[in-house]
Amino acid sequence: MKYFPKISRGNIYLSPINPEDYELRTKWVNDSRITDGVNQTKAIMSINKEKEFLEKYSKDSDSTKAFAIVNKENDKMLWIVDLWDINHIDQVARLGISIWDVEEHNKWYGTDAINAILLFWFYTLNLRNIDLHVFSFNKWAIRCYQKVWFKEYGIRKETHYCNWKFRDEIYMDITKVEREEKNKEILRKS
Ligand SMILES: CC(C)(COP(=O)(O)OP(=O)(O)OC[C@H]1O[C@@H](n2cnc3c(N)ncnc32)[C@H](O)[C@@H]1OP(=O)(O)O)[C@@H](O)C(=O)NCCC(=O)NCCS
Repeated sequence: MKYFPKISRGNIYLSPINPEDYELRTKWVNDSRITDGVNQTKAIMSINKEKEFLEKYSKDSDSTKAFAIVNKENDKMLWIVDLWDINHIDQVARLGISIWDVEEHNKWYGTDAINAILLFWFYTLNLRNIDLHVFSFNKWAIRCYQKVWFKEYGIRKETHYCNWKFRDEIYMDITKVEREEKNKEILRKS
């Protein structure tokens, strides 16, 4: 067995990361259709680097930091939702998410994964504010975040050089209180 359902919502479940996925990941981290949105196009990733990275990542002492997103129907791994800059005193952290296979975009997996992880982060880890940074050209990501009730709270101009242009970065966040209604709705349906 490669994946272990820890949290389940909609058509996906979240599982601990499997370090054997390094070959698949090497393919995806060299695909600029994906890496433009996560600021990784400038990196050239070899299979060895990826193997090392995934081994380290899957052994991280804070196992709540990253989950693989897996399709419930066929156990296909869609990639990752993870937590950055966790501060348990202030109860804040930053969301990261990527579905690496472009064929799997726009099927609500991103929405399902964020709905699942927000329940875990707000109620199990007891965090109170989750924020994220997204490039202004990443319209599908912004739409996905709006669907799970993230709201824009700022914009930083021309912070990111990508494909011949400097791009703006949008900041979005959501608090535990703001998510309360949405969480109740999700729990009612489950
Ligand atoms: C961002 C990401 C996680 C979203 O996941 P997803 O499963 O594709 O998202 P969903 O299907 O839940 O929602 C996407 C929404 O964007 C909409 N969309 C797609 N292309 C769009 C565009 N060009 N402009 C505006 N909206 C668009 C879809 O129609 C859908 O909205 P709808 O359900 O109202 O129709 C995924 O696309 C991804 O991993 N992208 C590459 C990595 C990345 O950019 N990560 C985010 C870094 S901040």
